[in-house]
Amino acid sequence: MNYSIALIPGDGIGPEVISKAAGVLDLVGDKFGHVFNFIELEAGGCAIDSTGEPLPASTLETARQCDALLLGAVGGPKWETLPGDLRPERALLGLRAGLGVFANLRPATLLPQLKNACPLKDEVLKAGHPDGKAGFDILIVRELTGGIYFGERGRDGSGKTPDSSAFDTERYSRFEIERVLRVAYDAAAKRGGKLCMVDKANVLESSRFWREIAMETAAKYKNIETSYMYVDNCAMQLIRAPGQFDVIVTSNIFGDILSDEASVLSGSIGMLASASIGVKGTGKYPAGMYEPIHGSAPDIAGKDLANPLATILSAAMMLRYSFSLEKEAQAIENAVNKTLDSGLRTKDIADRTKSAQNEKIVGTNEMAAAVIKALEDE
Ligand code: IPM
Ligand code: MG
Repeated sequence: MNYSIALIPGDGIGPEVISKAAGVLDLVGDKFGHVFNFIELEAGGCAIDSTGEPLPASTLETARQCDALLLGAVGGPKWETLPGDLRPERALLGLRAGLGVFANLRPATLLPQLKNACPLKDEVLKAGHPDGKAGFDILIVRELTGGIYFGERGRDGSGKTPDSSAFDTERYSRFEIERVLRVAYDAAAKRGGKLCMVDKANVLESSRFWREIAMETAAKYKNIETSYMYVDNCAMQLIRAPGQFDVIVTSNIFGDILSDEASVLSGSIGMLASASIGVKGTGKYPAGMYEPIHGSAPDIAGKDLANPLATILSAAMMLRYSFSLEKEAQAIENAVNKTLDSGLRTKDIADRTKSAQNEKIVGTNEMAAAVIKALEDE
């Protein structure tokens, strides 16, 4: 099959990690008989520099016509003083809304090879596991195109007087809540069969609405064990007993915060991939945007220090969710696993306890080359 993939390298380490993921995809194409056509597009800080706007209309238009989008990262200190609407991050919000990718899947797993990069103690990693296993395998499903990120906002007054104010609005429609819950329940059915709805229903009306609809949905998914948790408690439980979670489903802002927290638990934000999916046309999840969770890390850009694995794993998620190429996705994941088994580590995933015998610290190039080699040998 032929697939068109929009590539947005973006800023900072974005271009380095995207080129590595593209190399991996090329090899997957050769091995499995697919053609991936890459269309490179500009968004973020580099687009501000060349066109004056973070998300040029042509970028969104072209991305919409592609089968999926793989994005590196946007932003950097150079653009931090620009007004809100002109900042590189606007490109992300514009792409999410413009592509209709309302469900953001952020897996946070503790790979056995990276156990010593995890900041949690063994007893915490074992908590909540009836069989005494240590670790966790969580999927955060974050609503991505609604809530306070997109709600009405504004300011009243001059900004200088005491009664001047500013506001953002958390508003969710039944439609928005139902569709993201469906994605989360479908994911839970394919995984551990557990779903935890995270909200602030003890205070917020919008959260009470989420919970009402989650209860209705739970009644339809009888095989899934549904639980409900307030977001402050969830933030605590994630570092107290992460093993208790399977799928967590939550709103845009809560998901933003919890997924950063969860990412640290898995050893490094440099490992974590994400998929943002929608429902467009007749297929199930054909619209898709894939990106590593880490940012543009301008301090290490261009120094051969970035961990390319999160982007490579994001490409695997693209194959799985947008193209239904499960075998191919697994081949990438296996290659990453083997590379880690061999002891190669970028700096961010090095052993915190410094007790590992076989670790070798490598840069972006060597890490990606090792994944390619492992994939060739698959
Ligand atoms: C994320 C990021 C973005 C968000 C920012 C960069 C707008 O933190 O993808 O989690 O808040 O969604
Ligand atoms: Mg975030």
